Amino acid sequence: MVAKAVGVLTLLSLISAIVVTVEADYVRPPPRPTLRFPWNPKPSSHPNQICSVILDKTNLQSQVHISLAGENHIRITWITADKYAPSIVEYGTSPGRYISVAQGESTSYDYLLYSSGKIHHTVIGPLEHDTVYFYRCGGDGPELQLKTPPAQFPITFAVAGDMGQTGWTKSTLDHIDLCKYDVHLLPGDLSYADYVQGRWDTFGELVQPFASARPWMVTEGNHERELIPFIKDGFESYNARWKMPYKESGSSSNLYYSFEVAGIHVIMLGSYADYDEYSDQYWWLKADLLKVDRTKTPWLIVLFHVPWYSSNRAHHGEGDGMMAAMEPLLYAAGVDIVLAGHVHAYERSKRVNNGKSDPCGAVHITIGDGGNREGLAHRYLYPQPEWSEFREASFGHGELKMVNSTHAFWSWHRNDDDESVRSDHVWITSLVGSGCVSERRQVRRKNLLAV
Ligand SMILES: *[C@@H]1O[C@H](CO)[C@@H](O)[C@H](O)[C@H]1NC(C)=O
Ligand SMILES: [Fe+2]
Repeated sequence: MVAKAVGVLTLLSLISAIVVTVEADYVRPPPRPTLRFPWNPKPSSHPNQICSVILDKTNLQSQVHISLAGENHIRITWITADKYAPSIVEYGTSPGRYISVAQGESTSYDYLLYSSGKIHHTVIGPLEHDTVYFYRCGGDGPELQLKTPPAQFPITFAVAGDMGQTGWTKSTLDHIDLCKYDVHLLPGDLSYADYVQGRWDTFGELVQPFASARPWMVTEGNHERELIPFIKDGFESYNARWKMPYKESGSSSNLYYSFEVAGIHVIMLGSYADYDEYSDQYWWLKADLLKVDRTKTPWLIVLFHVPWYSSNRAHHGEGDGMMAAMEPLLYAAGVDIVLAGHVHAYERSKRVNNGKSDPCGAVHITIGDGGNREGLAHRYLYPQPEWSEFREASFGHGELKMVNSTHAFWSWHRNDDDESVRSDHVWITSLVGSGCVSERRQVRRKNLLAV
């Protein structure tokens, strides 16, 4: 009898699982509770999981993450409680044999009653492409491994924004871990610390197994701001902990920068830095776009936090000011793909410019569904705009595989499904390949950008 009931229940849940995957309007899961620290009291099988308690004297290093830092270089960031700990990284291509050593720098900050640990930033390189390196922080830490990105196509990006540190975040990270990716792109809203500084530390621990193994390239969201009028400028914790290659890319602010990897030029803009035509960010963007050489980097990708094309009711219109100022530049330069977050849902547009679909505009993707505690943004505008191709409020992540100089494969994966299930997927052909970035347009582009 019991067995029969269990059987019926299993059957019912199987049926509902099938219905869930075919129905666009299924009943969506509620937010999951915030995770309790320590994350993983049992020893983990993950090679890069080293700590269970943050900033304990017995655990010398914590919160290791890595980022690209100029051609063939990687920045290693970690935190120690010990303020005399050295900022050195030893590394090599065989386990336990560190044939190189790099000396870095360190910083720390105070925030009301909180004092951060010593935050180390050490750049290693030049490194070989597509190679596993074994490394050790601070001279006595446990051994970690990282893999450098390939020199050429194919290369895969994992993409998830608005992460937070809930059960859904963990689910997103576990799904991402199953995909073979080279670089993680995060369009803002990392820890949801929201002034509680210890949450930056627990977030650093949560993502370490992933972020210490592959470069994590991030830009800022509103939850990084932590502004206290007259007392604290915004982004102090974020800038201290998540130092990105802004100096390497000629920017004067950690809030916007660019980098190149395997035939792709990626620009990380700041939704929370000034963007009008008199701003430093605007001028830096023009200069950076002019430097792009499409024969060397046929793909041009841009990330920022607040989406310009979203038909969700949440945050609707918030990106309009930045869009008015900067979309003409991106269009003139022939940007292929724009990735944004902020809205806790998924949406993908056709190629679009100035509010209408346009074969020479960018594909805009909102991927703010990483799993934070605020939950999903369910309410949409009707009718669905002509440029909106796919929209759904579920937690998940994206994978962007740049196959070659003309073809990229984008897929979106719900956390409710197995990693292998793609709930949305599309081939994207590059603007260079489609002739939108032709000689004639190059001249127009130079003229516009030179103003
Ligand atoms: C790029 O990849 C696509 C999809 O696999 C393929 O159809 C196309 O022929 C490739 N182009 C080149 C130049 O290799
Ligand atoms: Fe946000």
